Amino acid sequence: MAAPTSSAASAATAPISTRAGSAGAPAGAGPTPRGARVGLTGVSHRYPLRRDIDHGWVPALMRMVSPVARARHEAEDSRPAQLPVLDRIDLDIAPGEFVSLVGQSGCGKSTILRLLSGLETPSQGSVVVDGEAVTGTAPERALAFQDATLLPWRTVRENVALGPQARGRLEPRRVEAALQVVGLRDFAEAYPTTLSGGMAQRAALARALVNRPRLFLLDEPFGKLDALTRLTLQDEIASLWASQGFTAVLVTHDVEEALRLSNRVIVLSERPAHVVEDIRVPEGLGSDESAPEFQRLRRHILSLLGR
Ligand SMILES: Nc1ncnc2c1ncn2[C@@H]1O[C@H](COP(=O)(O)OP(=O)(O)OP(=O)(O)O)[C@@H](O)[C@H]1O
Ligand SMILES: [Mg+2]
Repeated sequence: MAAPTSSAASAATAPISTRAGSAGAPAGAGPTPRGARVGLTGVSHRYPLRRDIDHGWVPALMRMVSPVARARHEAEDSRPAQLPVLDRIDLDIAPGEFVSLVGQSGCGKSTILRLLSGLETPSQGSVVVDGEAVTGTAPERALAFQDATLLPWRTVRENVALGPQARGRLEPRRVEAALQVVGLRDFAEAYPTTLSGGMAQRAALARALVNRPRLFLLDEPFGKLDALTRLTLQDEIASLWASQGFTAVLVTHDVEEALRLSNRVIVLSERPAHVVEDIRVPEGLGSDESAPEFQRLRRHILSLLGR
């Protein structure tokens, strides 16, 4: 039984397994990981906050004559101009690793994914993928959200083809392969409104997979699904990961899901988030949730989260 470790560096350099025995991931399946190496070094992030201050001459005059207007202005002016969200995050994720981020709502988990995808740049520190600083979005760094956000006027196939088409790199064979891998070949001509929640989420996964991502960023992708569909899709993600070898970073509120799928679980503090503990999940742990070690780690993570 491996004890949780608080060392990000040692966890990241340990050999990567295919989570033998975990949900859907066949032992030893898949090629050598082709996933990206990910590094966050001293990453802090702040969002600018909007303050409701009118600098016009009429409000300025009002403040001179009205104590109420003056008090309101002073209260607004003393509010912080920025919201600190991340506080010196250091993370090293090895190629092909499956890492989950857990933390309180609003602590900054999605912000970490946005930084990794290149949608945001950090206020401080560096975000490096495969040795290169992330300066913008790239198809090999795919982001999947809780909401499938499919375009309702396009069929499933057309939704999946959207990204490559927009870049002028449409390869129909890849689109078919992505549909096949998520089990939606028979629904390629269907429109999103006719799909169940699980099928829509599968289509969204195919839309990301068509780009053959080396880094797959999953932001609570199963959050809105019923328990049964959720379990099925967890299995599917696990086998996709095992067969495709991408590096995965999953944000989830579900500690069991994190333990079932991951090599590592990163527990984050409340906002501004820092890494509270970097926990290596023993190989095969996810296959037996009733095992004492699974339950011990589950309780440990929940207690770190204050639950
Ligand atoms: N563009 C933005 N501008 C200002 N504040 C933002 C912006 N995006 C996020 N925030 C704030 O930053 C904080 C962290 O947001 P983030 O979405 O990363 O949290 P989270 O951990 O993913 O939360 P949840 O679990 O609820 O999804 C929140 O307080 C949020 O309101
Ligand atoms: Mg979020």
